[in-house]
Amino acid sequence: MIDQAPVFTPEQSASLAAYTTNAHRYDERTRAFQHFRHAIVDALPLRPGDVVLDVGCGTGLCFSMLLEKIGSRGCVLGVDAAPEMVAAARQRAAREGWHNVVVSQAPITEAPIGVSADAALFCAVHDILQSEEAVRAVVDSLRPGAWVAAGGGKWADGWMIALNLQVRALHAPYVADFDGFDRPWRHLERLIQDLQVREFAFGTGYVAAGRTARDPLSRSSADGITGPDRAATDRHA
Ligand SMILES: C[S@@+](CC[C@H](N)C(=O)[O-])C[C@H]1O[C@@H](n2cnc3c(N)ncnc32)[C@H](O)[C@@H]1O
Repeated sequence: MIDQAPVFTPEQSASLAAYTTNAHRYDERTRAFQHFRHAIVDALPLRPGDVVLDVGCGTGLCFSMLLEKIGSRGCVLGVDAAPEMVAAARQRAAREGWHNVVVSQAPITEAPIGVSADAALFCAVHDILQSEEAVRAVVDSLRPGAWVAAGGGKWADGWMIALNLQVRALHAPYVADFDGFDRPWRHLERLIQDLQVREFAFGTGYVAAGRTARDPLSRSSADGITGPDRAATDRHA
């Protein structure tokens, strides 16, 4: 029913026009999604002083929400591969005087993270979430028991064809490859224990949250969860 998009790597997704030539319009064009960003950040139970990784941070539209939770003792580490988006994120941090926001320009698999972060946010980064290598690189950079939250768009049930055509049009500027759009958390659920998934807006959006293994050696057991146990981790609203 849905045409297959050409296959891009997550790194190539950072070269979409929305993140390069049109980056200056990104905030205005995606302002309508701000309440979804709030819902995704709210799924991260952060504490003052936490270090949080904002994966594919874009222009930094989640920074203020994260800083509200972690305070001046905490730190936001933003990573994004698109130079124009990183420039906007750095300008935002400078303008607001956020000295505890550090933005790196790199594909997430090559990012110099350098700390064992307390949490990671994947906000509207479908292409990154579809790379098992990228998701694993982020999860491996977190401390044991760290919180992870992800959210964004997804397909509604297949019979809702008209709705899914609208979903495709809405997300096409920001998604290089719609592969996995029926279950965007598919790689995350193999690495995060008890990932809780909540769908909303007739199944066209989701928020997922869970924690890394407290004992990193037990992470491989989450890798092996299949069938009914795996299904039990989903909580559809
Ligand atoms: C839809 S934007 C989301 C930005 C931000 N999280 C928000 O909520 O507005 C997706 C971002 O992911 C970045 N990106 C895509 N692939 C990436 C990769 N492999 N490594 C780092 N950033 C990537 C893009 O450059 C873009 O800024």
